Amino acid sequence: MSIRTIRKIGISTGGGDAPGLNAVIRAIVLSALQHGWETVGIRDGFNGLLTPEDYPDGGVITLNAKSVAGITHLGGTIIGTTNRGDPTRFPVIQSDGTVLEVDRSDELIQRFTEAGIDALITLGGDGSLAIGAHLAAKGLRVIGVPKTIDNDLDKTFMTFGFDTAVSFATECLDRLHTTATSHRRIMVVEVMGRYAGWIALHAGVAGNADVILIPEVPYDIEKVAEVIRARERTGRLYTIVVVAEGAKPAGGAVSVLGKTMGQAEKLGGIGEKVAHELQERTGRESRTVVLGHLLRGGSPTSFDRLVALRFGAAAVRALDEGLSSVMVSLDPPTVRYEPLREAIRRMKTVPLDCDTMESARDLGISFGD
Ligand code: F6P
Repeated sequence: MSIRTIRKIGISTGGGDAPGLNAVIRAIVLSALQHGWETVGIRDGFNGLLTPEDYPDGGVITLNAKSVAGITHLGGTIIGTTNRGDPTRFPVIQSDGTVLEVDRSDELIQRFTEAGIDALITLGGDGSLAIGAHLAAKGLRVIGVPKTIDNDLDKTFMTFGFDTAVSFATECLDRLHTTATSHRRIMVVEVMGRYAGWIALHAGVAGNADVILIPEVPYDIEKVAEVIRARERTGRLYTIVVVAEGAKPAGGAVSVLGKTMGQAEKLGGIGEKVAHELQERTGRESRTVVLGHLLRGGSPTSFDRLVALRFGAAAVRALDEGLSSVMVSLDPPTVRYEPLREAIRRMKTVPLDCDTMESARDLGISFGD
C-alpha cells in the first residue's frame, strides 16, 4: 500500500493499561492532523471492529483535536482496552456453553477495509505487538508502540508506564518504612511485573528495600530469614522486602492465582507466602501489601508523558516514511524503529550483571540468594 493512500489511521490499545496511553493517543491524533489524516480509535483492543454490535457508538470512534484535548496527564485509555480480544484466538461461546478459540484475523483485516482504515497503530505489550505483526503479515500497514508497566519488552530501552509504576511503588515504600519501624515489623510488598523483576528492582533500590526478590534470581527463604536476624543483631528490628509477583523459590514454582481461557496465567500470592514463611522462621510479626493494579493507575510521570508523546509522533512519522511492521523504540537520546518480529522474539528480563543489580548488592541489599 502506498503512503499516499493513507486517509485514515486506526489506533488500538490492547492488554493491561499503562499510564501514558492517552498521551500517545493525543500525539498520534495531532500529528496525523498535520498530514491531513483522520484518526479513529478502535474500542477495547480490536473488539470494536470484531463485535461492533456490543457498542452503541459502533465500536470505532472518530478522534479529533477536541476529543484528545487535556488527556496527556490522564491514566487509562480513552478508547478502552482488553486482554481477552486476541483476534487470532478469539473466544466464541458455543451453544452448549463451552468456549472455542477462533482465528478471526482475516475477518478483522476485512473490517479494517470496510471501515476505510488504511493503517493501524497498535499500542501494547508483547501480545498486542504479536497481533500487530500477524496483521502486518496479512498486508495491513502496522506500527507498534511499546507499552507496559512491566518494562519487559525487548528492543526498546524502556516502555512508557514503567517510570510511573516505579515512582508510585517507591512512594509506597517510603510510607511503609515509617510504619515498619514504628511497629518493628517485616513489611513484604508485592509488585507487578510478570516474569521480569524490573519494577521490584528499580522501586526496591530507590525505596531503600532491604531485600528484593525477583524472578531472575530464585530465592532461598532461609537466606532472607538470615538477613532479618542479622539486622536484628544490629538493632534494626524492621525489614522491608519487595517481592515481584513472578518471584519463585529456588527449585520451586511461581505463585499463580488462576487462569482464564484466552488469557495469560494470573500471577499473585507470593507476597503473602513470603511474609508467612518469614514470620514462622524469625518470630517477627509480618504484614503483606499488594500494590497490584494501583501501579497501573494515576497520572503518568513527566518522563512517561514525554516518551509517550514522542512515541505517538514517531509512529505517525513512521507511516509517513512508508514503514510498516516496525515498533517505535526508545534508544536514548533518540527514538528509532525496530522490526516488530524482532521486538517480540524474547522477553526482556533483568540482566544479572547489570549495574543496578551490582549497585544494589554494593548497598547491602539481599536478593535472597
Ligand atoms: O502486563 C501488566 C500487568 O500489570 C502484569 O504485571 C500483571 O501480571 C498483569 O498485567 C495483570 O493483568 P490483569 O489483572 O489486567 O489481568
